[in-house]
Amino acid sequence: MLPALAIIGGTGLTALDNLLINRRETVATPYGVPSSPLSWGTLAGRTVVFLARHGDRHSLPPHRINYRANLWALHQRGVRRIIAVAAVGGIRADMAPGVLAFPDQIIDYTWGRASTFFEDHPAPVTHIDFTEPYCATLRARLIDAARMLNLEAVCDPCTYAATQGPRLESAAEVRRLERDGCDIVGMTGMPEAALARELEMRYAACAVVANRAAGKVAGPITMAEIERNLVSGMVQTRMLLERVISTLDETEIRSS
Ligand code: HPA
Repeated sequence: MLPALAIIGGTGLTALDNLLINRRETVATPYGVPSSPLSWGTLAGRTVVFLARHGDRHSLPPHRINYRANLWALHQRGVRRIIAVAAVGGIRADMAPGVLAFPDQIIDYTWGRASTFFEDHPAPVTHIDFTEPYCATLRARLIDAARMLNLEAVCDPCTYAATQGPRLESAAEVRRLERDGCDIVGMTGMPEAALARELEMRYAACAVVANRAAGKVAGPITMAEIERNLVSGMVQTRMLLERVISTLDETEIRSS
């Protein structure tokens, strides 16, 4: 099997309709079992692996996801490029519900998650560079595809705040994230991005804005609202993924 590009799907994207699945594979890792079996298939004629971050039935909350097992399994099966899809709240005014955004920076507010492969073994302590947390080339491909398809997308630089969840933030917490320079807020960006970097995998994210972040509009945020906005966002995401994948050639997918 050729090493492939992986898509990690989040809330609203536990399956990819346009992925023709030919094999499901449960991978054991030294870190335990991944969130879901790997679904191997073809999308736009290319080999793709899909992993449902919250499990096939969306039962794993963000802090319970075994990020290490997920990333290890993908790497072990030859994946060197990952497009992560994640629902977020919009902090910046133009991050309106339904819009797609492509973060180029991240701030980690999570705690207590197993967040590195570099522990508990005799090798010297390793500090990876994380100046640019996302792969600029893969991100540019996402942006090109979004522009080409005329999607509702905000393509300028964007900072993702990774919060612990599973609760949403308080209005004061969102004001603090905004002061810190964050434009969108989600719960799964870390340690996923850092673990991908530790394994030297190229990683970019497509964030789907599901709601205005807490305090940005009057009243509470409802799950019904989030689910409604994710439906239209995910339609755009599926089109985007198909387009991006068709523009990558196999050599590019395989190279590290
Ligand atoms: N905050 C954090 N994560 C989220 C949000 C939010 O407002 N919406 C969707 N995922």
